[in-house]
Amino acid sequence: MSIDLTIVQFCPKYADMDYNIEYMTDNIKEDDSDIIVFPELSLSGYFFLKKSDILDLALRADGEIISQFQNYAEKYNKAIVFGFIEKDKSNFYNSAAILMPDKAESSIYRKSHLFYKERLIFEQGNTGFFNVYWEEKDLNIGTMICYDWRFPEAARSLALKGADLILCPANLVTGVWEEAMRTRALENKVYVAVINRVGYESINEETLQFNGKSTIISYNGKNIISAGEDNEIALTAEINPEKTRDKSFNEINDIFIDRRPELYFK
Ligand code: ACM
Repeated sequence: MSIDLTIVQFCPKYADMDYNIEYMTDNIKEDDSDIIVFPELSLSGYFFLKKSDILDLALRADGEIISQFQNYAEKYNKAIVFGFIEKDKSNFYNSAAILMPDKAESSIYRKSHLFYKERLIFEQGNTGFFNVYWEEKDLNIGTMICYDWRFPEAARSLALKGADLILCPANLVTGVWEEAMRTRALENKVYVAVINRVGYESINEETLQFNGKSTIISYNGKNIISAGEDNEIALTAEINPEKTRDKSFNEINDIFIDRRPELYFK
């Protein structure tokens, strides 16, 4: 079964949740694909240094705003994935909501590897790497967030657990991830989508420039579709999960069966 995947590259307005919700909602309503994905921390913006600055932007996973997006997933029969600041008791996480048309399949991933000054406000994620299975579409969706890309173990864990598609909502500030993510797709024979943002944010005279180039990569490591480095755009590509399930690349070799975990360093 083929599936249409849309990635939305945009510039979330800093600390303006109303604007970001409206922007995302408009995209969800206009889009007629099966999955729509937005960047890391889409609802809030990225560069915060103090917990006191994110109190009004932090959301409970079972709160009103996430529930509203869950309703859209049900109403439009669409998987909706985006990053947000999650509050759980007194802890904050850099999280992604993976909202499925069947609420029972929905889940929250908490970023495992915290980048740079994220460490000042967020706890390290404790959900681990897992896939969400969309039964109706026979699709296994794995999620990581941005800096998780530097750890090949993240994609490998998701792939070994059966991911067909790895989503990486991101707020990337370097350009070195592109080769790595094409390699993650190739070495695991899975689709990979990096959903980055554009624009910049400045705080205390430090500026972070986010560099776009959001991309959907095929299981053969080739880009299917890519955005520019500074424009807002929604891009759609067709993927076929069944193509990721045979891990052989000739009549003798299979990249999962050929692994030698007993020889690997833990
Ligand atoms: C990043 O993890 N936002 C670079």
